Amino acid sequence: MNPPPQLFGRTDESEILGQLLADSRNGRSAVLVLRGEPGIGKTALLRYLTGEAPGFRVARAVGVESEMELPFAGLHQLCGPMLGRLGSLAEPQRRGLSVAFGLASGDSPDRFLVALGALSLLAETAEEQPLLCVVDDTQWLDQASAQILGFVGRRLLAEPIALVFAARTPAGSPDHLAGLPELRLDGLGQGPARALLATVTSGPLDESVRARIIEETRGNPLALLELGRSLSPAELAGGFALPDTGDLPARIEDRYAARLGELPEEARRLVLLAAADPVGDSALLLRAAQVQGLDIRTARLAVESGLLDIGASVRFRHPLVRSAAYRSAAAEDRRAAHDALAAATDPRADPDRRAWHRAHATAGADEEVARELITSATRALRRGGVAAAAAFRERAVALTPDPAERASRALAAAEAKFAAGDFEATQALLVAAEIGPLDELGQAQVQRMRAQIVFALSRGSDAPPLLLRAAQRLETLDAGLARQTYLEALVAVIYAGRLARGPDARQVALAARSAPLGSEPLGHPQMLLRGLALRLTDGYLAAAPALKQALDRYRAQPPGLDWLCVSFNLVAMDLWDDEAWFELAADQVRLARANGTLSWLPFALDYLAEIHIQAGELSQAAALMLERERIDPGTRAATLPYVPLLLAAWRGEYELVEAAVRGDQRERARAAADRLSGIAEASGSSWARGAAARSRALLASGHAAEDLYGEAIDLLSKTRMATHLARARLSYGEWLRRESRRVDARDQLRPAFDAFASMGVQAFAERARRELQATGEKVRRRGDDARVELTPQEEEIAHLARDGRTNPEIGAQLFIGARTVEWHLRKVFAKLDISSRRGLDEALRHRYRRSEAARRG
Ligand SMILES: Nc1ncnc2c1ncn2[C@@H]1O[C@H](COP(=O)(O)OP(=O)(O)OP(=O)(O)O)[C@@H](O)[C@H]1O
Ligand SMILES: [Mg+2]
Repeated sequence: MNPPPQLFGRTDESEILGQLLADSRNGRSAVLVLRGEPGIGKTALLRYLTGEAPGFRVARAVGVESEMELPFAGLHQLCGPMLGRLGSLAEPQRRGLSVAFGLASGDSPDRFLVALGALSLLAETAEEQPLLCVVDDTQWLDQASAQILGFVGRRLLAEPIALVFAARTPAGSPDHLAGLPELRLDGLGQGPARALLATVTSGPLDESVRARIIEETRGNPLALLELGRSLSPAELAGGFALPDTGDLPARIEDRYAARLGELPEEARRLVLLAAADPVGDSALLLRAAQVQGLDIRTARLAVESGLLDIGASVRFRHPLVRSAAYRSAAAEDRRAAHDALAAATDPRADPDRRAWHRAHATAGADEEVARELITSATRALRRGGVAAAAAFRERAVALTPDPAERASRALAAAEAKFAAGDFEATQALLVAAEIGPLDELGQAQVQRMRAQIVFALSRGSDAPPLLLRAAQRLETLDAGLARQTYLEALVAVIYAGRLARGPDARQVALAARSAPLGSEPLGHPQMLLRGLALRLTDGYLAAAPALKQALDRYRAQPPGLDWLCVSFNLVAMDLWDDEAWFELAADQVRLARANGTLSWLPFALDYLAEIHIQAGELSQAAALMLERERIDPGTRAATLPYVPLLLAAWRGEYELVEAAVRGDQRERARAAADRLSGIAEASGSSWARGAAARSRALLASGHAAEDLYGEAIDLLSKTRMATHLARARLSYGEWLRRESRRVDARDQLRPAFDAFASMGVQAFAERARRELQATGEKVRRRGDDARVELTPQEEEIAHLARDGRTNPEIGAQLFIGARTVEWHLRKVFAKLDISSRRGLDEALRHRYRRSEAARRG
């Protein structure tokens, strides 16, 4: 490769990059995204960076502008040279990565697992020598690679790895690099811009002309160079009027197009061939040129004009040259180029690229090519390339000659786009499918997908009636799909927050109740459908037995991660079944982590975090929430429900009793307490019965109150719901104090205060403290204690390490590198004042003992 050209200006940027290298050399991972408009100097800075990195092993990947979406192509480029180390990865990660790269066949690996594999591979490689990864033109990477590299970037911390991306602005959507540290590049300053301009202009330049060029190019280096080169001395001397309108890159591209236009026909066609091949494979170019009967020697002219370079691979001087060559060509010439490239591509070694070129070589419909694309789609999906599969299918639709076939392929493509989260493309394909002819089932499926999009885009009240209509239509066509759609409609109703309210909810539920369930004995999905529908039509008491039965059946199955678990999680919460809730949540998190199921983990984490909150284990909850946030900021909204919202929708009576009692609305309070008692009876769980006893106690007096408080505390002590227990004690203590039984009051208030304080529930702790003071006991505020505070992540890592997990195991569980685990652990040791893992158990317990001692003292 040519030596990097001299870099003008960019002193701040070079310093930042130098620091980044120093950091990663010292074992602190560094991640940076260079962003800026075309030609601003991102690639130049990356070249500077790799030139400044002696001692680093350098890995590269470059995105290429092309409609062709080949799954994991970018990641493969980056990791290709490291694949010798695959063997040292944990088995599921190795398998995931191998399948993604097409090295092995197997079930479509979860994106998460592939990401984890990539992270481990980089970390493993960096063990030997610091690793610098540069990823240029990130905006053109395939979706799968971009998402994974973003994921890796968010997780590096203590590995000797520097990961630097370059991406054009404005950022596309979805922006997989969102949230990573950024460095925005603006134009060069006056001095460097002048110096750069001087390298391409010979002879003196009129000062006003120079000033004008710098102003009009806003210091964009590419624009400076191109204008400086292409203007004749006369133009330079006389000044020129660049039209101020239009964006700079487009104008530069136009200039390249004009220069290409000056080449002889044959050379131009060669450049077009090179531009149509996203790989830059010069042997392929040569073969394709032969197919077209072009004399490869004419390429010399293009090379001499400095527009591209043909060595082992073909390199355009700048991506804008490539886009100029492709875009300025006539459609017919472009097709001819793709045709030649398809003919020159080995159908066995590279069937997908060949299919893609063939697809672009075809002007009209072509069943054979369409079928080839669908084969490629299936292959892409097997490797986990959801977006790529969708792209192949979408293209196949346009090429399918038979209208009925086209419609059904459009439906399949719509499903693929929906799975890839591209709702706009889904809508367009549904329109294409509807043009038909489509059979009745197909039409009903279109209807269902439209409803699902509405649900995915807004969890509001629009979706349930749409899902309902789709379910009804499906009833006679596909009973299983109909049932599933009914269930989705019910879940959508619950989301819309209209539980047992509003005509829609009732309508949906009534219709779902009348849906044929199939023959007895019913499976748990059918029981669930019946129970949920009953819940909405006849209320809690009527539905509880059916729901309990369904939940029991479900729990008897091996845990699974499918959309059914969304509904059963709801049921467990609704039944006040804290054991089931905890068990389902913990199973789901374990399962999702173990097989790296990206789509479910955020949801499972939410669900588990919520029960930890209710159990007063706030630091565990916080650690889970943190993990969830870091999985992928971009995925959650599109995929799954948000538990706290759900919970809020299901709840409502809870706080009501206490608020009403305090607000002197005894009638309302009594009504709410009665409802809660009904629920408790139907649910039968200690949690529900304890909460009901407490709310009745709030309304009672004398012995009755005392008995009820006792019952509440008794029952709640048997549950995980420590916050509820503490609140029962607090209410009881308050009541006792009002009865002037100070000593008894203290016996309740003290544990309540302790519980709230160690949970970190400040408001309630303060209330308990004031009550205790009123009984004459002195209590220090917990904030004064010397309790050792760990961050949520440290807390989680410390507990896992205490439980005997190794660093790689913890890393695999939390999706971070083993060194990053070690880095956190060292901080934990320092905070807890211990020197090894052996001290962890004692120190973690001591932390609480010490604070207890502080309280007593
Ligand atoms: N600071 C600089 N000093 C000297 N030359 C520079 C500087 N920055 C950029 N250049 C030159 O300007 C041209 C355009 O820069 P570069 O290719 O790095 O832009 P880019 O931001 O990568 O654009 P794109 O988004 O299109 O890839 C290159 O020829 C590069 O060598
Ligand atoms: Mg560039």
